[in-house]
Amino acid sequence: MASKKIQLEINRLRDEINLHNTQYYVLDDPQVSDQYYDQLLRKLQTLEKQFPGLITTDSPTQRVGAEASEQFESVEHEVPMLSLDNAFDEAEMQAFNKRLSELLSLEVSLQYCAEPKLDGLAVSLLYEQGQLVRAATRGDGRSGENITTNVRTIKSVPLKLVGDKIPELLEVRGEVYMPLKGFKQLNDRQRQHDNKIFANPRNAAAGSLRQLDPKITASRPLAFCCYSIAQLLGTTLPDSQFDQMQLVKLLGLPISPYIEKLNSIEACSDYYHSMADKRDFLSFEIDGVVFKLNKISQQNKAGFVSRAPRWAIARKFPAQEVMTTLLDVEFQVGRTGALTPVARLEPVEVGGVIVSNATLHNMDEINRKDIRIGDTVIVRRAGDVIPEVVSAVLKDRKAGFNKPEMPGACPVCNSEVIQQEGQAAFRCTGGLVCAAQRKEAIKHFASRKAMDIDGLGDKLVEQLVDLGLIDSIADLYSLTLDQLSSMDRMAEKSAKNLLDALEHSKQTTLPRFIYSLGIREVGEATALALANYFTELTAVESADEETLVQVDDVGPVVAANIVHFFDQAENQHVIQRVIEAGLQWPDIEKVEDIDLPLKGTTYVITGTLENYSRQQAAEILKKLGAKVSSSVSKKTTAVVAGDRPGSKVDKANKLDVTVLDEKAFDELTGNRHV
Ligand code: IVH
Repeated sequence: MASKKIQLEINRLRDEINLHNTQYYVLDDPQVSDQYYDQLLRKLQTLEKQFPGLITTDSPTQRVGAEASEQFESVEHEVPMLSLDNAFDEAEMQAFNKRLSELLSLEVSLQYCAEPKLDGLAVSLLYEQGQLVRAATRGDGRSGENITTNVRTIKSVPLKLVGDKIPELLEVRGEVYMPLKGFKQLNDRQRQHDNKIFANPRNAAAGSLRQLDPKITASRPLAFCCYSIAQLLGTTLPDSQFDQMQLVKLLGLPISPYIEKLNSIEACSDYYHSMADKRDFLSFEIDGVVFKLNKISQQNKAGFVSRAPRWAIARKFPAQEVMTTLLDVEFQVGRTGALTPVARLEPVEVGGVIVSNATLHNMDEINRKDIRIGDTVIVRRAGDVIPEVVSAVLKDRKAGFNKPEMPGACPVCNSEVIQQEGQAAFRCTGGLVCAAQRKEAIKHFASRKAMDIDGLGDKLVEQLVDLGLIDSIADLYSLTLDQLSSMDRMAEKSAKNLLDALEHSKQTTLPRFIYSLGIREVGEATALALANYFTELTAVESADEETLVQVDDVGPVVAANIVHFFDQAENQHVIQRVIEAGLQWPDIEKVEDIDLPLKGTTYVITGTLENYSRQQAAEILKKLGAKVSSSVSKKTTAVVAGDRPGSKVDKANKLDVTVLDEKAFDELTGNRHV
């Protein structure tokens, strides 16, 4: 009897979890908090642990079930997996449309179904009686590899179809891809562990899907989007591409939210341009738009040529990765003196703009990627990210192509360049003697999050320094209308506005001012913590390292940077002059008096978090005013639970204390991941 009840409860939990999965991944409309979802999952896990006989492979707890395998088995595709013809311009689209109209002997305009072309890997998913039984790669189109265990770990792939009309058999095709945010986080993680860096989200998705150990795939942020039905048995197949996609959506498979029916080739052109405009703002990479004849009867009439359908075409966007020649590597000096290698390139169009410079990040990256001057290199420009050199094309390398070398002296001020132990960056030791560092320091001072001086842009700062009108931030406050109006492209009105903005900036706050000084590794959060802790600038200036490390967010390295900064007579002098010019801020209340967002709350942290140590998570909470305790009680506001959380979560559940997962923690603290 008891076991029947338990089976029912397990079924109920699974159904509810699947429902929330659909709401989240397919309908993009979550109905419950992540926290509630996790509670359901945990309840199910607990029951399944108690009654292992009731575990089924389609249970949402069983995504990473299998052990690592030796190799992937081969899978025959009953329906071949085709590729697409490409169109690169309007004329090719017109030709495509004309061909089809003639072939179908139709005078009226054809209806198309359009979707973005995701840049990932094609996979086939086979569902029997609603259960995911097989996933395969495209391979050569006739046979691919069986990657079921890996695909099961992708959360947006349902293990079980939903709804009340489950087909006997359904094979869908779609793209596995890696959203951009996950891609960046994965590469950061890879870099930290000295592992391979992926050149782009597509490679990262491919590398993740081809892992023999599904646990690794599970740790990679992959997603799935369905774009066609290959086989369907047991229900009627809708007679248009668009309706077929609505059917798979009802069955719980994610489809593109940008899918549209278009009634003419002109509408296709509009769709293409509108997607091109959206491209840089999407959370995933697309490399074009796919247009398919919407009516299946027309598709069947049009048929195929070799490996691509005649009834579909991909209109490609300008490539985001192109090859060009690395002409030279120069070094740019930043605010903190760090020398950044910059690639000078044979100009080339990337993602629709001409690029002649790209970042190489640092010497470690150059070495890791083994890049030499003269190489043919792959340059990538995606979204609003600055163009970067991704890799060298080794087959084009000639003898005599040399590695770029870090100069021994600063290219701007000729001071010595050194690399501090344990740091990747090489730095110019010139400090404010170095014009480059002076310029960067002033730009930083004027920037939005610092003193927010409207009208004092980067170009103007450079001109002012080059003309010798300013040497430091203090000189800004003695600029005159005459001096400013005599600058290039500076009307008297703009000069007046700038003087007003400078005057306005004198009323500031202590955290802003500390931040605007540009002390190495002192960002906004640290500046705020310092201001709150010391409440007076003089106290920060005279603090020793031992005192500084007491401040949240300040470790020994940052403490040393702060002491070093205020030790420089030059810096002291500049600060004094700025204050004499009238810069001021209101008094700061002591930290206890400030209404921090988590004031009065108590958290317990348990288990292994993915992105933080427990110590780091505690620091973040404390900074927001929360207390962090080691034991759960009724007074606990919530327990933050990572992987393998142990008994604290049980206790929390018993006491009805909220349990937060890492995502909920990120939301709470504003550190958003994935
Ligand atoms: S339809 C018979 N639709 O592009 C038609 N493909 O270049 C087969 N792709 O192998 C593909 N987004 O991996 C289709 N919305 C979309 C797509 C898409 C990405 C990929 C797919 C295919 C490749 C062809």
